[in-house]
Amino acid sequence: MKFDKRVLSMLLILFFLIISCKKDDITSQNEVYFPKVKAIISQNCLSCHSKTGTWQGRPTALDTDTEIAQVSSSIKASVADPVSPRNKRMPQGGQLSQNDVDIIVKWFNKGGKASD
Ligand code: HEC
Repeated sequence: MKFDKRVLSMLLILFFLIISCKKDDITSQNEVYFPKVKAIISQNCLSCHSKTGTWQGRPTALDTDTEIAQVSSSIKASVADPVSPRNKRMPQGGQLSQNDVDIIVKWFNKGGKASD
């Protein structure tokens, strides 16, 4: 029987493609976004949404993990969903980078909890 190198190399390429896809899926499922979300919030939101320091009586305090997780859907809406009179764009007067928005959306889609 003649050994076909082309078939073999095609199979090898396919094999490595499948392996690499699988690896990506596993890492994104296991990735914990919350620490990044917290960092984004402390940099971009706490100037207005903190009870300490410059707390200006805003409706939403985002100081603790619990407070952040409780309003995960509003946070995601305020940075990623279309702006409307009922959904103001946050941070007010600014705009997060696309990368930061993506992190918040991934966190929300994963569950929006402090462990996600
Ligand atoms: C410059 C001040 C300021 C910054 C910075 C800011 N916000 Fe706000 N935020 C406000 C104000 C004021 C409101 C009330 C909006 C209104 O009804 O006009 C608000 C409202 C909200 C609401 C809706 C609250 C509700 O009860 O409906 C959410 C959620 C929110 N902000 C999240 C964020 C997030 C997340 C960030 C950071 C990415 C952020 N904000 C940054 C001032 C700010």
